[in-house]
Amino acid sequence: MMGICLMKRCCSRLLFLSLFCALMNQNEAISPDGEALMSFRSVVSSADGVVGKWRPEDPDPCNWKGVTCDAKTKRVIALSLTHHKLIGPLPPELGKLDQLRILMLHNNNLYGSIPTALGNCTSLEEIYLHNNFFTGPIPSEMGNLSMLKNLDISNNDLTGAIPVSLGQLEKLTSFNVSNNFLVGKIPSDGLLAQFSKDCFIGNFKLCGKKIDMECPDENSSTGSRSTGGGKTGKLLISASATVGGLLLVALMCFWGCFLYKKLGRDESKSLAIEVGGGASIVMFHGDLPYASKDIIKKLEALNEEHIIGCGGFGTVYKLDMEDGNVFALKRIVKLNGGFDRFFERELEILGSIKHRYLVNLRGYCNSPTSKLLLYDYLPGGSLDQALHERGEQLDWDSRVNIIVGAAKGVAYLHHDCSPRIIHRDIKSSNILLDGNLEARVSDFGLAKLLEDEESHITTIVAGTFGYLAPEYMQSGRATEKTDVYSFGVLILEVLSGKLPTDTSYIEKGYNVVGWLNFLISENRPREIVDRSCEGVETESLDALLSIATKCASSSPDERPTMHRVVQLLESQVMSPCPSDFYDSSSD
Ligand SMILES: *[C@@H]1O[C@H](CO)[C@@H](O)[C@H](O)[C@H]1NC(C)=O
Ligand SMILES: *[C@@H]1O[C@H](CO)[C@@H](O)[C@H](O)[C@H]1NC(C)=O
Ligand SMILES: *[C@@H]1O[C@H](CO)[C@@H](O)[C@H](O)[C@H]1NC(C)=O
Ligand SMILES: *[C@@H]1O[C@H](CO)[C@@H](O)[C@H](O)[C@H]1NC(C)=O
Repeated sequence: MMGICLMKRCCSRLLFLSLFCALMNQNEAISPDGEALMSFRSVVSSADGVVGKWRPEDPDPCNWKGVTCDAKTKRVIALSLTHHKLIGPLPPELGKLDQLRILMLHNNNLYGSIPTALGNCTSLEEIYLHNNFFTGPIPSEMGNLSMLKNLDISNNDLTGAIPVSLGQLEKLTSFNVSNNFLVGKIPSDGLLAQFSKDCFIGNFKLCGKKIDMECPDENSSTGSRSTGGGKTGKLLISASATVGGLLLVALMCFWGCFLYKKLGRDESKSLAIEVGGGASIVMFHGDLPYASKDIIKKLEALNEEHIIGCGGFGTVYKLDMEDGNVFALKRIVKLNGGFDRFFERELEILGSIKHRYLVNLRGYCNSPTSKLLLYDYLPGGSLDQALHERGEQLDWDSRVNIIVGAAKGVAYLHHDCSPRIIHRDIKSSNILLDGNLEARVSDFGLAKLLEDEESHITTIVAGTFGYLAPEYMQSGRATEKTDVYSFGVLILEVLSGKLPTDTSYIEKGYNVVGWLNFLISENRPREIVDRSCEGVETESLDALLSIATKCASSSPDERPTMHRVVQLLESQVMSPCPSDFYDSSSD
């Protein structure tokens, strides 16, 4: 039972996805929050399989992508899956997540009604369900969510009246029900009166002084019956959603896919970057010739077409300025609402760093709900895309050059910055490439910045696991040496062309580091290299493998510093034929 032995090791030591593990651990009970999310998983599917990868055999859902837990209680405090093409209804079991503070499911293809049980999630502070296909009324039970600060359910197909109970939400500071099929009078007593016309527009049968629409004199505003209105296809679906049952789920999925294909996403719907009043722009380096108001104007014009990525910290947009300069705008949303002074001070430190192998932070915009960070835009995309998504192949020289550049960037953070910076999230999607395939390290310092000081929750997502040092996974404590481990994994990823948690490793019971160690024990470590990579030089390959092995040592003391890594790379990997190396960069 050698295989099982290996699999056990995989399960207990490394939290990797594996079918075998799934079969073996089935009798362990999952936490109630996990159970509620499994209900979600059973009715919602996603084109990219993100929800399908949630593992029912985990003791709790805390490592599932999109799920954030309180570090101590392991209760779910945030569910965040945006832009995942999720299809399906929301199950009432979500109401069991009574510690849930943030529910972010916007920009998907969810349908059915908003479950009344959501009113049981009394810790909810932020609900984002905009840009979906929800039908039916807004549940009056939402008026029970006394902690609620942000509610955006715009761009859906909701019907009925706006419940008067929402006027009791004392903490509500942002609210949007635009572009639905709501009817009747906007409740004029209560706190909804504070919101402007922009929060209600696009509901043709809604009336009230707020939107300059006289209400008819009859008592028609209290009904919460839907108005139909040619939406029979979707109403059928929402009706069957309440009946439930496995067959119906399958049927709904079919209908969902059909509707999704048929309707697609309305691309003209604008994306909610709310810069809003009181926004201010802070620029670093003092070398950008733009006035704040020009930048704000640009920000307000951004929409879905400008999205170039969705990182662990938030959405990234491309920002073209009039003068031809291009920037990348990262919109980050912090858990637990607030950005404090500490946050701004940290940003200033990050903004003061400038280095050839780092992606410069040029400035940021303060807005009430999010921080918009302005970075240099890099046309080469991320190393992750270059290795795993695009068809074109990186040749050997490019790969070596990228490793060396990334090493120099991280070494600068560790040794030459004051204060020193631990990156905490080194992975291929955080290494960007310029037009000449030179590496630039991005997102340094953000993981720390977004850590919740009380609960130490960071927004590092499950996708990062393959890169995390064993002691980091156990203690959650990042050091320079945990970065070095991640860098070792990164080297192996570049050499092998495979993600550190590629299924071919997992099937054999390893991750990439385990696989390398196995190949070394068999005396054939060179086999780890991507077969399609052209121009491999065995001498520098051997040196790289030796460096990667040291970096990814399970003992932190045995790992070299990043300074040392750069020295080793320069002396052992780049020197064999330096003239060749420089010649090849002139093409
Ligand atoms: C919500 O709370 C009510 C009242 O406490 C309870 O009857 C209902 O079952 C709860 N729903 C869910 C889904 O937990
Ligand atoms: C929640 O709201 C509904 C309708 O607004 C109300 O009937 C119910 O009593 C409330 N439940 C709790 C627990 O406050
Ligand atoms: C509400 O959402 C709509 C559509 O997404 C948008 O046009 C409008 O500006 C938003 N209103 C506010 C106040 O953000
Ligand atoms: C509207 O309803 C209220 C109480 O529900 C009633 O007093 C009033 O007369 C009604 N108005 C009309 C025009 O029916």
